[in-house]
Amino acid sequence: MSIILETTGLTMRFGGLAAVTDFSASIPKGSITGLIGPNGAGKTTCFNMITGFYRPTQGQVFFQGQELTGKSPHCVCRAGIARTFQNIRLFGHETALENVLIGAFVRQKTGWIQSVLMTPASRREENQLRDQAMELLDVVGLANIAQEKAKSLPYGAQRRLEIARALATQPSFLLLDEPAAGMNPQESLELMDFIRTIRTRFDLTILLIEHDMKVVMGVCEHMWVLDYGLTIAEGCPEAIQSNPKVIEAYLGEEYVRHA
Ligand SMILES: Nc1ncnc2c1ncn2[C@@H]1O[C@H](COP(=O)(O)OP(=O)(O)O)[C@@H](O)[C@H]1O
Ligand SMILES: [Mg+2]
Repeated sequence: MSIILETTGLTMRFGGLAAVTDFSASIPKGSITGLIGPNGAGKTTCFNMITGFYRPTQGQVFFQGQELTGKSPHCVCRAGIARTFQNIRLFGHETALENVLIGAFVRQKTGWIQSVLMTPASRREENQLRDQAMELLDVVGLANIAQEKAKSLPYGAQRRLEIARALATQPSFLLLDEPAAGMNPQESLELMDFIRTIRTRFDLTILLIEHDMKVVMGVCEHMWVLDYGLTIAEGCPEAIQSNPKVIEAYLGEEYVRHA
C-alpha cells in the first residue's frame, strides 16, 4: 500500500512546553486512521502542523512525496489537504450554501478580475461551483437548509456543514478534528457510516481525532495514540484496545471491562 502522508520527527514546542515530540507517522493512501489520546495530548497540534497552521519546531511533513513543512494553510489546502476544526469555524452569518462555496473558491480557476467583470467564463464557473456546492450539501444531508444561516443550524448539522466545506476544496486527504463532539449516539452512528461513504465516494484518505471510542474503533483501520505529546502506541484497533499503556493513559480499566 502506498503512503500518502508521512511525518518525520514532528515536534512543536511552545516556550517550555513540548506539545508534540517526535511524531513520526506514515498514513497509507485510502485508509481511515485515528489519532487518539487524553485532552492536551497534542492531537490538534499535530493537525495544525500538518495543515500549515503551526510551523513545527522540528521535523517534516511530506504529502504525496512533496514536502509541505512550513507551507501556509492555503498552500496546503491547494495541495489537496482539507480539515475541520475542533471548535467549529463557520461563517455564522452566511448561509450553508455560501459556506460551502467559500471552500470551493479555493479551487476556482478564473481570476478575481474576471469574477468582478462577470465574464462568461467566470459566470459559467460560478454556476458550476454552485451546482457542486448544492451536490455536497446533498451528500451531507443539508440540501434542504441550503439557504439558512450557518449559526442557526443545530450543532450536528454545523459539523456536517464544515465537512461539506472541506470537501468543496476537492481534497485527497481529509483531517477531522472531533467530528462527533456534541453529537447524540444516533448521530455518532450515522457519522461512522458517513465517514466510510465519503472515503469511497471522493477517494479520500482520512485522519480522525475522536474521543467517541465507538466511532474510532468502529471506523479506523489503524490508530496512533498520543500522551503528553509522545506517541505511546500505534496499531490496529484490537491491539490498541488491549495495549496496557493505552489503557493506563487513556482508555481506563472501566472501558476495558465494558468493551
Ligand atoms: N498556540 C498554543 N500556544 C501555547 N500552547 C498551546 C498552543 N496550542 C496548543 N498548546 C498546548 O499544547 C498542548 C496540546 O494541545 P492540543 O494539541 O490542543 O491537545 P489535544 O488536541 O490533544 O487536546 C496543550 O497543553 C495545549 O495547551
Ligand atoms: Mg484537540
